[in-house]
Amino acid sequence: MKKLLAIALSLLMMSACFAAAYADTEAVKIGISLPTQSLERWNRDGAYLAEQFKSAGYETVLSYADNDSARQADDIMNMLSSGATVLIISAVDGEAMDAVMSAADNAGAAIIAYDRLIMNDAVDCYVSFDNYAVGRLQGQYIESALDLPNAGGKTYTIEFTAGDTADNNAGYVFSGAFDVLKGYIDAGTLNVLSKQTELAEVATVKWDADAACARAAEILSAFYTDGAAPDAWLCSNDSTAIGVAQALSSAYAGSNVIITGQDGELASLANIVDGKQSMTVYKNVPNEAVVTFAIVKAMIAGEEIGEKLAAAVGAECVYDALSYETSAGKKCPSFLLAPSVITKDNLQELVDTGLYVMGSDGYLKSAE
Ligand code: BGC
Repeated sequence: MKKLLAIALSLLMMSACFAAAYADTEAVKIGISLPTQSLERWNRDGAYLAEQFKSAGYETVLSYADNDSARQADDIMNMLSSGATVLIISAVDGEAMDAVMSAADNAGAAIIAYDRLIMNDAVDCYVSFDNYAVGRLQGQYIESALDLPNAGGKTYTIEFTAGDTADNNAGYVFSGAFDVLKGYIDAGTLNVLSKQTELAEVATVKWDADAACARAAEILSAFYTDGAAPDAWLCSNDSTAIGVAQALSSAYAGSNVIITGQDGELASLANIVDGKQSMTVYKNVPNEAVVTFAIVKAMIAGEEIGEKLAAAVGAECVYDALSYETSAGKKCPSFLLAPSVITKDNLQELVDTGLYVMGSDGYLKSAE
């Protein structure tokens, strides 16, 4: 923000004709760097972001890093060399961006950490969903599905599968869920037979479905040898949920394990219809793109990036200037959208977004 804001402020003081040149959208090139195309959501993010900026006349370059942090750094360096002055980055590894962040900073580019926080002070602002809230919704779903507050002497088994620790969101989502369930674990109502409850133990490299499946299969064969599947499996997102559901269906045909997820991936929505996944936390990514676009426009216009902007974006969005810090402890101005729970009982809510349609076979499809 400081950079474009400084540019915009100095432009205000300069000649009208220089300001007019800068106001030309073609003078601002937008670089969008996303982690992977292997999940539907990032394809949607890429499409919505690029579409918004392009239709407003901005030159836009979009790249996907195949979950490879070095490749992402190369992508961003190329964007800078081609003259990008605004970078919208969803980092593969939020702590491995220092070199590229200083290059961007030196080039005077504005940097928006998109969906995933980057742990570097050069970041101007952060746009995401409230990831701790995503985890809480997952934990609360399990709490209510097992009616844990009224469990009395009943006990249940549960296992955990989280995301990639290189992604800052993984920790927020996992803590949100774990904080809801911890009391029940401490009280002995929930038993984790694997005893794996630390993020580092339950993490899934690259949020990869196959890796989640392999770890789940190991846990099942080591700790669930009595023929009973766990009662619940907390999965931090849909790709990990798909892996865990796969391991469970290989080990226990017809088992009815409560499985959580996040994103609204079509394969998970099909699993929800089939009873192989219980819920997903839905995040309307077009809204994330809308907020990002509004921030960039405000930055370029030299307008304030804060509460008023969050209130004006037309989606449930909170401005938070205090909660998110880069590694050096700098507070990062943050815009956080609200996630919601989808189960087989409210799939219509997804259809109502206009982004999904219900097929005649009873499964949701993408509207595009
Ligand atoms: C995103 C999730 C996504 C995960 C894996 C997280 O940073 O917030 O929506 O499922 O990455 O790509």
